[in-house]
Amino acid sequence: VQLLIVTPTYNRPFQAMYLTRLAHTLRLVRPPVLWIVVETGWQSEESVALLMRTGLMYRHLVVQQFSPQHKDRGVHQRNHALDHIQQHALQGIVYFADDDNNYSVELFEEIRKVKRFGVLPVAMLVEGAEKTTIEGPVCAGGRVIGWHTSEESAAQRRFHSDLCGFAFNSSLMWEPGGEGRRRNAPVRFRDNIKEGFQETTFIEQLVGSEAEMEGLADDCREVLVWHLRAEAARDSVYPTSWMLRASMNITTPA
Ligand code: UGA
Ligand code: MN
Repeated sequence: VQLLIVTPTYNRPFQAMYLTRLAHTLRLVRPPVLWIVVETGWQSEESVALLMRTGLMYRHLVVQQFSPQHKDRGVHQRNHALDHIQQHALQGIVYFADDDNNYSVELFEEIRKVKRFGVLPVAMLVEGAEKTTIEGPVCAGGRVIGWHTSEESAAQRRFHSDLCGFAFNSSLMWEPGGEGRRRNAPVRFRDNIKEGFQETTFIEQLVGSEAEMEGLADDCREVLVWHLRAEAARDSVYPTSWMLRASMNITTPA
């Protein structure tokens, strides 16, 4: 079964480092995955150079930002990838891999086992945060029996998965919405969703309850993905080849 790995990305100081790291992980996955990279605005010099030499099977898509003010964190890009998957009827397991998280090779072996909809726990690492938390399923015998959660909004959320904590068969997207599934439009991320509700709102379109979920990663006891929050200041320089050529701060030995 094919893995369809969807990665939103945008040009910023950390981009080349993030994409290189993710590409190197994906290169270790056998059989090869299809990497669908969706970039905001334009294909950056960094991403083009990197993708061309990875040897990975990839598609480099571009989508315009909603609006300059819009804080969308990859929502529009993931939807663009879903349009692409649907238009070309790509069969496989869809997994949203943000460019900035850390993934183990075993994660991809786990999501390849997914029949319909799989879940696994995610470690949340925030630089300087007081505590580290886990978000995702608690399982027994491969079934989801509860959720680790730390959000205050927990009570109101239906499912407590992180974006990088689930994977699904693309065929679910073109199945009719069934029992308990909230589906009256194509399966997509929605705009203007309350902070922390993006994942559950998406998942509710695909499955009706925990009974339809497959617990991965040794009955959800293993951490195979780390959601990391670290980013350079908006105005900092981009450490790429053109910057090296343009650098003013060069000292030559006397
Ligand atoms: C995560 C999830 O990825 C979001 O879908 C979710 O809505 C969010 O948590 C939340 O719950 O608030 P987070 O790690 O906070 O997002 O955000 P980023 O890492 O900044 O962005 C996620 C992905 O979108 C990354 O791959 C990033 O490269 C991309 N992105 C972000 C863009 O392509 N453009 C942007 O302007 C921002
Ligand atoms: Mn992130």
